[in-house]
Amino acid sequence: MASYIIHGGQRLEGEHTVQGAKNSALPILAATVAARGECVLHGCPDLSDVRATLAILEHLGCAVKREGGAIIVDSSRLRGCEIPGCLMKEMRSSIVFLGPLLSAMGCANLTAPGGCDIGERPIDMHLEAMRALGVRVVEEGGRLRCDVREGMKGARCSLYFPSVGATENLMIAASTARGITVLTNAAREPEIADLAAFLNACGAKIHGAGEGTLVIEGVEQLHGAEHTVIPDRITAVTFLLAAAVTGGEILLRGARPAHMDAMLSVLEQAGCRLRRLEGDMLALRMYGRPRRLPTVRTMPYPGFPTDAQAAFMALAAVADGTSIITETIFENRFRHVSQLRRMGAFIRVEGRVAVVEGRRHLHGAEVDACDLRAGAALVVAGLAAQGETRVRGIRHVDRGCERFEEDLRLLGARISREEDDLGQPEEAN
Ligand code: EPZ
Repeated sequence: MASYIIHGGQRLEGEHTVQGAKNSALPILAATVAARGECVLHGCPDLSDVRATLAILEHLGCAVKREGGAIIVDSSRLRGCEIPGCLMKEMRSSIVFLGPLLSAMGCANLTAPGGCDIGERPIDMHLEAMRALGVRVVEEGGRLRCDVREGMKGARCSLYFPSVGATENLMIAASTARGITVLTNAAREPEIADLAAFLNACGAKIHGAGEGTLVIEGVEQLHGAEHTVIPDRITAVTFLLAAAVTGGEILLRGARPAHMDAMLSVLEQAGCRLRRLEGDMLALRMYGRPRRLPTVRTMPYPGFPTDAQAAFMALAAVADGTSIITETIFENRFRHVSQLRRMGAFIRVEGRVAVVEGRRHLHGAEVDACDLRAGAALVVAGLAAQGETRVRGIRHVDRGCERFEEDLRLLGARISREEDDLGQPEEAN
């Protein structure tokens, strides 16, 4: 099991260029299946989840290559619409191939992605949205068999929760459905608008992305396009937090502060000095110890993102005062709490509410990363802690953080990576 070894207490200082957004790159790569021709994607981060997506594209018959910093996908020779379980299980979010395959092939045979560390993660809204477009969905034995003989037809559809993945699947499928599709209570995350921008570059007619209601005029066929993925707002704030917990300072290049408002507001109320510089630069400086956080409650965008909850808990763990963090999106996203406690954090959990009494110091310990964001949070805590912290199971972190330890080292962190080939691969979540 691969591990990070961190010697905490080093003040981080320097510049960091934000990677491309994992949660934008993954659906856009899947959507290339629906675009007949060659797509050139810039800014896709080099992550295990991206490599898992490329493996699925190649399995489906797409030609995939990397040239310079771009990923080039040609889906002209798409064959079949079946994704085997071994590829589906590599990455839970491969359900986002459902819409693209239905658009391109009129069928999709996938393994229903199981639950994961952070929750049961059903796909009922995805399937209801496809049925609304006229897709026949058969679920049996953990497999999904979907087909639509006469082609998909536009429809009115409403989500009972603004699901990111369900919005993505419907947006891609409806792009080539006959007629108009209206989706209400759609997810509003920046990654949704980025996917819509890519699809519109491919010839789709999607209006209202980033707002609560999407209107999609179906077109005959999507063509290839060139697109640059937006910056990753979650890894961006993770680096801000790494500087904050070490009383350091950092200049982020290539950030998109407008996507980070809810998180930046919490950082400022915790005592961080933030400066939004021209273009896409963001500077943070932390003097002394963080103040307790204002009440944090994870919500769909533009609310506070659930993906940042764990890393902000690491900040709360060393803050002066008591912070209250409520997780409303996933039912099991506090698994980093027990690991932070091993480092001396004082956290009480009642249901979905964590009460964090800040400590002046955490101490190093052996801890386990049980999912991507929990793992990144434990690294942030290890940077603040006194002594040595070993974070095990960091293949989870590899799923979402590109060059993580290298970039932290460039900022002055004492962090190294230890591979243990005997380790068991961690399952995707
Ligand atoms: C996306 O997951 C992100 N993943 C997640 O990031 C992120 O936490 C999540 O959106 C919320 O912002 C990618 O984009 C690849 P949802 P997704 O559908 O689409 C329930 C990370 O660490 N739900 O918005 O799966 C679901 O169980 C990952 O980068 C249903 O009940 O999230 C959850 O409680 C983790 N039925 C809530 O809705 C459904 O059909 C939000 O899920 C679909 C979802």
